[in-house]
Amino acid sequence: MAKLEVNFLDLHLKNPFVLASGILGTSPSLMERCAREGAGAITSKSCGPEPRAGHDNPVALAWDWGVINAIGLTNPGVKEEVPLLRETKKRLGAMGVPLFASIFAPTLADFGEVVKVIAEAEPDLIEVNISCPNVGSEFGTPFSALASSAAAVTRQVRRAVDIPISIKLAPNVPDIAGIAYAAAEEGADAITAVNTMPAMLIDPYAGKPVLKNRTGGLSGPALKPIALRCVAEIAQRVSLPIIGTGGISTGLDAAEMLMVGASLVGIGSAIWRDGPSAFGRIADELKAFMDQEGYGRLEDLRGRAIR
Ligand SMILES: Cc1cc2nc3c(=O)[nH]c(=O)nc-3n(C[C@H](O)[C@H](O)[C@H](O)COP(=O)(O)O)c2cc1C
Repeated sequence: MAKLEVNFLDLHLKNPFVLASGILGTSPSLMERCAREGAGAITSKSCGPEPRAGHDNPVALAWDWGVINAIGLTNPGVKEEVPLLRETKKRLGAMGVPLFASIFAPTLADFGEVVKVIAEAEPDLIEVNISCPNVGSEFGTPFSALASSAAAVTRQVRRAVDIPISIKLAPNVPDIAGIAYAAAEEGADAITAVNTMPAMLIDPYAGKPVLKNRTGGLSGPALKPIALRCVAEIAQRVSLPIIGTGGISTGLDAAEMLMVGASLVGIGSAIWRDGPSAFGRIADELKAFMDQEGYGRLEDLRGRAIR
């Protein structure tokens, strides 16, 4: 029988599936439920320096080939987040499921402050979201757009905490591997790739965009080929472990993501669509594929398609 266990940095996960940030990662009970349903690790919803209400409705739509969202980084602010994550960490810890805490910030200095506060919750890893596509009108160009700005955030965060950090990158850049390389040079422990792809959907009857924010981030099946290409490029350039995220909704999708070099596999939209039980289904499907094709361990799959 194929084994799905995986070591990631100094952590041991029962399987490579990680709840992606922004989906059900808002309360201890929702995160515990995802862990009970089979997630190997859990990422909390991104939180920033201050409470944010996010954008006006409609903020998300399940569309034929995925999801489009412009939630707008709704969060209670990092001070409120710490007790929530402490409680979550206690519950997940009892199940042996690591907690990844996601943060964002509008400025470089704020990244340094937010990361210090979130570290009080002692998450197993801090995911640094520099790639939200939906807050450009307030925050300007995302830090993920350039190697230099991604490096600057990584340096700031690296100086502030000893907890492992993963830098979350955007797909809509000309050289994602160069950006990952710059983050690695500044001491990132891992790379999360990718965030959503900036997109727009129009309601032809209303004659206007479906989202109040007009544009949003595209995720789900439409994002998968883009995410696979991004992860493949990063894996060929950088030796850090990658949390491959984007459009994974079946065990076969997960096998593809591992084959382009991912160590862990993030899942967002499929959980949004099907609920947390999708973790168990996707794990069973991956195991069945591995058994059928004669793969005993995840290492046998990892990077196979890019050698
Ligand atoms: C409704 C929604 C909210 C999201 N919120 C966040 C967020 O707060 N922080 C973040 O880093 N990514 C966020 N994402 C992006 C996901 O974590 C993930 O990178 C992306 O959706 C691609 O994976 P998927 O195709 O499996 O959904 C969000 C995605 C969706 C659909």
